[in-house]
Amino acid sequence: MINLHDIRYVRLATDDLQSTVKYAQEILGLQQVRREGPFVYFRSDNRDHSVCYYEGNPAEHVVAFEVTTAEELDGAAAQLEAMRTPVKRGSRDESEMRRVEDFITFADPTGNKIDLVLRPHESSRRYHASRDAGIESFSHVGLRTTNAARDEEFWTTVCNARVSDRIGDAPLLRIDEVHHKIALFPSDHAGVQHVNFQVNSIDDLMRSYYFLVERGVPIRFGPGRHPTSGAAFLYFAGPDGMIYEYSTGVRLITADEERDYKPRQFPFGPTGFCMWGAKPNIEEFSV
Ligand SMILES: [Fe+2]
Repeated sequence: MINLHDIRYVRLATDDLQSTVKYAQEILGLQQVRREGPFVYFRSDNRDHSVCYYEGNPAEHVVAFEVTTAEELDGAAAQLEAMRTPVKRGSRDESEMRRVEDFITFADPTGNKIDLVLRPHESSRRYHASRDAGIESFSHVGLRTTNAARDEEFWTTVCNARVSDRIGDAPLLRIDEVHHKIALFPSDHAGVQHVNFQVNSIDDLMRSYYFLVERGVPIRFGPGRHPTSGAAFLYFAGPDGMIYEYSTGVRLITADEERDYKPRQFPFGPTGFCMWGAKPNIEEFSV
């Protein structure tokens, strides 16, 4: 079993690096840490970086998860290879670019590209962004799935994720105490559906709501509160069709609760996504 320790970064290709970088700084509120050739790295917390944008086909996305020991990384590679899942070991140069000590890369059954990284670097500097969006941390991704039941089985039996709740057939998966670090969204193709950052308070969420509306950034869903995780949320549009989310107040499922915890079922419709009455564009959350 592969033990995912935490979500670490996303790598998102873009066909307009300059405007994506501007958006990340001025709208999203991330801190640019470095530019290395076509790769631009952004922080949202103590991680060296949580987002890397680079010039390329905008359909290319990679999500990284951390494992804690070299033995676990080797074990993960062996387990995936035994399942006939192609695994590629990262080179020294590729590890250096990602600011990790070692990594392997593979794809989940839908084809989502995953890096499993060992000893990712922390930053020695305090995170501060040019726009104060109140971001506290990179927290989860919505990952597209072409078969939710199959991918739920992969993530839970191979990667030790646990189902916290389901909206329709789509599971919200935890790898630690946080209600979810991966949300699977039904789709006809692979990729990241949304990228989530936790903000400090509902005040930050509402400040951003007015900030974004004033600047003409399309709001995709919310403000609202998820009945699943209990988090207040705001989804909005980014470059290359990516959706970004700020949320606050996500539920923890503690070690004490873990033993008796049973996933709840919510309908795949507006009430499954929001308890305040905000209506998602269900198409956008399922295709
Ligand atoms: Fe989310």
